[in-house]
Amino acid sequence: MTGVRVKPEAITSSYRRWAPVYDLTFGRITHAGRRHATKVANDAGGHVLEVGVGTGLALPYYGSELRVTGIDFSQDMLERARTKIAEENLSHVAELRQMDARALDFPDGCFDTVVAMHLISVVPDPEQVMAEMARVCKPGGQILLVNHFARDEGWLAWFERKFAPFADYLGWHSNFPKDRVLGVQDLQLVEEKPLTSLGLFTFLRMEKAA
Ligand SMILES: C[S@@+](CC[C@H](N)C(=O)[O-])C[C@H]1O[C@@H](n2cnc3c(N)ncnc32)[C@H](O)[C@@H]1O
Repeated sequence: MTGVRVKPEAITSSYRRWAPVYDLTFGRITHAGRRHATKVANDAGGHVLEVGVGTGLALPYYGSELRVTGIDFSQDMLERARTKIAEENLSHVAELRQMDARALDFPDGCFDTVVAMHLISVVPDPEQVMAEMARVCKPGGQILLVNHFARDEGWLAWFERKFAPFADYLGWHSNFPKDRVLGVQDLQLVEEKPLTSLGLFTFLRMEKAA
């Protein structure tokens, strides 16, 4: 199994560097996934948990009738999300909390939709995070993932392997294999959709057994 070595202290320092420039850099090239995932969440309605909410770039796209809770490990990223909520008067956002996705401080089965965008390849223990997201999702609810997943072949696969050693510094893991998010107990993959023509980002929808 390919190991993701991202350490908690690396998350804090990496996203302290990212926070001031995130919306204008990585945030800008990843809008397709945010628009699509929030549309799917809006169709389901109810209470949404966004894990790794970052600077809150997706928050304005959730429907005003939803209730949205966001968590993130980085206070620097959360500060920017709080500013957006205030400036854009996003009253559907119920709360934002500093929290480690590996140990979600919520009861079992309390969210209709759990969303994680560009998160699963940067957390120290993706399997534990998937298990936690499944735990807090209601039976019959859904887990939405947007992420870059490693390719097996081609010139982009070569770049992914070259970038891999810089994962901690970049806060981004370039060769993360998709099979690490599949096979979670009670979760079934029901939709897989490439989000860009180059296939840089992929949307996955999983349903939790009712
Ligand atoms: C690439 S950013 C994505 C932010 C947002 N989801 C988006 O699409 O713009 C990854 C986010 O995951 C957060 N993160 C990393 N590890 C985490 C953990 N263990 N628990 C919670 N959040 C974490 C980072 O602080 C960062 O805000």
